Amino acid sequence: MPGYKLAIDGPAGSGKSTISSLIAKKLGWTHIDTGAMYRAVTLQALELGINLNEEAQYRFLETSTIHYDFDRIYINDRDVTEAIRSEAVTNNVSLVSSFPYVRKKLVELQKQAAQHGNIIMDGRDIGTVVIPNADLKIFLTANVEERAKRRYKEHIKKGKESQISKVIEDIVIRDQKDSTRKESPLRKADDAIVLDTTYLTIEEVVNKIIELTDKKEN
Ligand code: DC
Repeated sequence: MPGYKLAIDGPAGSGKSTISSLIAKKLGWTHIDTGAMYRAVTLQALELGINLNEEAQYRFLETSTIHYDFDRIYINDRDVTEAIRSEAVTNNVSLVSSFPYVRKKLVELQKQAAQHGNIIMDGRDIGTVVIPNADLKIFLTANVEERAKRRYKEHIKKGKESQISKVIEDIVIRDQKDSTRKESPLRKADDAIVLDTTYLTIEEVVNKIIELTDKKEN
């Protein structure tokens, strides 16, 4: 049974990961956060001390393994779920994810992971590149201020020092890089449904998407 494929794309802070994780728990589906995979590669690159600007240096991926176990992510069997949220990783992940070689490697893994069972996958190119034949494609948006506010609250909750103006600046820079890169930029698939989450609660977005999956199943 190939199962139901739900693709969720959108910019940084649009709520993709939180919402996808909740939907997966409610429906008993598998959630794959592809942003976490790009972050895991970035973390390893930083730890190896490679020149991040040289695509050839990412060859270490030939012998690396990345896998998920529920909402935890492992690189070479090391749990890096918390480590991938560091500022150093956040500041470099757009650069790392712009290299065609890195994308090719991760998209291969993502396509394999999407093959079996009921899958909800979130990222930037899921509906356009990774699962172009998904049963349902959602493109989540929210205005920059709201997205920054959400990230800021996350930081404070985790006891991280944060400044709202800096968070806005980071999001604007990342949006710009993610949507203008040559290789599979952040783009809404033609057949994706746009959901603006600026004035919606997490619960409302989750319920709306579940309602849409039900409609598509009938
Ligand atoms: O969703 P996130 O903020 O954790 O993603 C981190 C970065 O990874 C994001 O700035 C762009 C990149 N990314 C990507 O290029 N393609 C994806 N499918 C997912 C994330």
